[in-house]
Amino acid sequence: MTQKIEQPTRTLGQSSKALPVVGLGCMGMSEFYGQADESRSIQTLHHALDIGVTHWDTADMYGPHRNEILLSKVLGERRQEVFLATKFGIVRGDNGSFKGVSGHPDYVRQSCEGSLKRLGVDHIDLYYQHRPDPSVPIADTIGAMSRLVEEGKVGAIGLSECSADTLRQAHSVHPISAYQGELSLWTRVHEGAGNVQEACAELGITFVAYSPLGRGFLTGSFEKPSDLSENDWRRTNPRFKDENFRKNLALVEVVKDVATQRGITAAQVALAWTITRPGNVITIPGTTKAHRVTENAKAASIALTAQELERLNALPQASGARYG
Ligand SMILES: NC(=O)c1ccc[n+]([C@@H]2O[C@H](COP(=O)([O-])OP(=O)(O)OC[C@H]3O[C@@H](n4cnc5c(N)ncnc54)[C@H](OP(=O)(O)O)[C@@H]3O)[C@@H](O)[C@H]2O)c1
Repeated sequence: MTQKIEQPTRTLGQSSKALPVVGLGCMGMSEFYGQADESRSIQTLHHALDIGVTHWDTADMYGPHRNEILLSKVLGERRQEVFLATKFGIVRGDNGSFKGVSGHPDYVRQSCEGSLKRLGVDHIDLYYQHRPDPSVPIADTIGAMSRLVEEGKVGAIGLSECSADTLRQAHSVHPISAYQGELSLWTRVHEGAGNVQEACAELGITFVAYSPLGRGFLTGSFEKPSDLSENDWRRTNPRFKDENFRKNLALVEVVKDVATQRGITAAQVALAWTITRPGNVITIPGTTKAHRVTENAKAASIALTAQELERLNALPQASGARYG
């Protein structure tokens, strides 16, 4: 029998619901990071639950749709064990094309019904708007989401990658439980006065750090852009290209050095750093591999020393924009 890995927990938003500090991002199991392997991903999902990695993150646009369908294959047997988060708002065509964003109230409802069906569940624990829609007042989108809460289809509401102002407006309509934003050693764009992390701390909103491993770069797994497979989306990401790639390797060298001196992995250093950021921060590293779910969960209990933090805090942010 697989042993649970004890993790510290943090609460979800203004509730007393406790979540493990390290959850699981499921996106790469279906798209963006090279070839998908469904049977291995299903084993990884079961393993995650076996060791107590119960907070799963997906979105309707991952695949598109295929990631939610993949999760349904485990949720069918183990729904009660999972804290299930999904997202709507990035609109994609059946052929995978990107068609913009929508926060229209009708679209909110239609998306939620679609996700419930694909996931094979009767409620979603945390439902995010994936990206703000500048053409729809945020109050209208949150109003539609709050009706889903009233109907028991959604447990809590989250937002992703919106401004601090939008977050505050949204919170005045219905309590926002979580904000999902990119946060890692090479991405600190949400920190600082007037920024989102400050608003989260003030409003009691949990900050869910996505891409905490710098989409894999911070683990030291890549030496050159061609280490990524031809169909890997990261090949189009500015941080993984040419001169930026080379500059970013210098940053990873420091992460690897801290890891070697401590006898842990670079991935664990990156995760341990992320969860020490100010505020109520949890994280959802993505992996398709069971042994890495274990490695990442163990990072939840690693306390970096003052000297280690000083070295890591002094690192520059990544060279290259977050998105192309
Ligand atoms: N809200 C948003 O806009 C947004 C955007 C992006 C992502 N997300 C969410 O955040 C989750 C995590 O972000 P992410 O997947 O983009 O990036 P990430 O967690 O920073 O990195 C994932 C990459 O790291 C590799 N990896 C994971 N653990 C490792 C370890 N211990 N050692 C070496 N390599 C390791 C994975 O490869 P293997 O699979 O080979 O292990 C994968 O290539 C996603 O799955 C998704 O749910 C949200």
